[in-house]
Amino acid sequence: MPDSRVPRPRRFLVCEPRHFAVQYAINPWMREDTEVDPDLARGQWEALIRAYRAHGHTVDTVEPVAGLPDMVFAANSALVLAGRVFGSFFHAPQRRAESVAYETWFKTAGFDVHRPESVCEGEGDLVPVGRYVLAGTGFRTTVDAHREVQEFFGVPTIGLRLVDPYFYHLDTALFVLDDGHDGREANIVYYPQAFSPGSREVLARLFPDAVIATREDAAAFGLNSVSDGRHVFISPRAEALAGRLARHGYVPVPVDLSEFHKAGGGIKCCTQEIRS
Ligand code: ARG
Repeated sequence: MPDSRVPRPRRFLVCEPRHFAVQYAINPWMREDTEVDPDLARGQWEALIRAYRAHGHTVDTVEPVAGLPDMVFAANSALVLAGRVFGSFFHAPQRRAESVAYETWFKTAGFDVHRPESVCEGEGDLVPVGRYVLAGTGFRTTVDAHREVQEFFGVPTIGLRLVDPYFYHLDTALFVLDDGHDGREANIVYYPQAFSPGSREVLARLFPDAVIATREDAAAFGLNSVSDGRHVFISPRAEALAGRLARHGYVPVPVDLSEFHKAGGGIKCCTQEIRS
């Protein structure tokens, strides 16, 4: 274990939860017409943005659109690698208009946007790490989209099958601790039982030193974390996992997004990384 983990500054895109609500149920965490406390949600989200900025990260915001209550989950809008944007195509009809809103932001910011041909929910299911893109399927993003991602970026794209409906996006079952930039060892944290047996084996082969999470860690949205290589922005409800990460030399930064858990989302879901 290195004596000190070195953070790398990131550029994030986020969307204020002005219209956030739980109005439909498209994953097992959601109950139609669950009350959301708008002030609490806003306060929690603002604390996340403050935490990012306090740790040296740049945060851009996209204007929220009325009638799109899940638009706060910016991670689903795209995968951005080397300044190239692979956009989104949502599984749920209720979320499809989000793609256009984010596409407009990217275009205004000077990026071209590739529109996927089949269902693809951005960084929710596409996780770049080391020399690969890990790509989830089973509930949302399709295997066809994985092929399209590989063709578009020319980066080996490793399909992983998710099997537990509570962990319907890859970013609810796995996150990157170190993305392997600057010659460092790429590493991840994941909850094995969220994956099919074959996919579990693939992860074990690729990341023999991965930190293994429990169902409790995952159910506390502990796998929906964001790491800058040193600081891990993580749900305070995932206490056991945070403790393990600290023993690995990482610095947990607890941020509670409990209002967003009602929609099946957490820290990573609210965060799109713009990699230049
Ligand atoms: N309610 C949203 C959905 O089911 C939550 C999305 C969470 N985003 C994520 N990256 N896991 O689509």
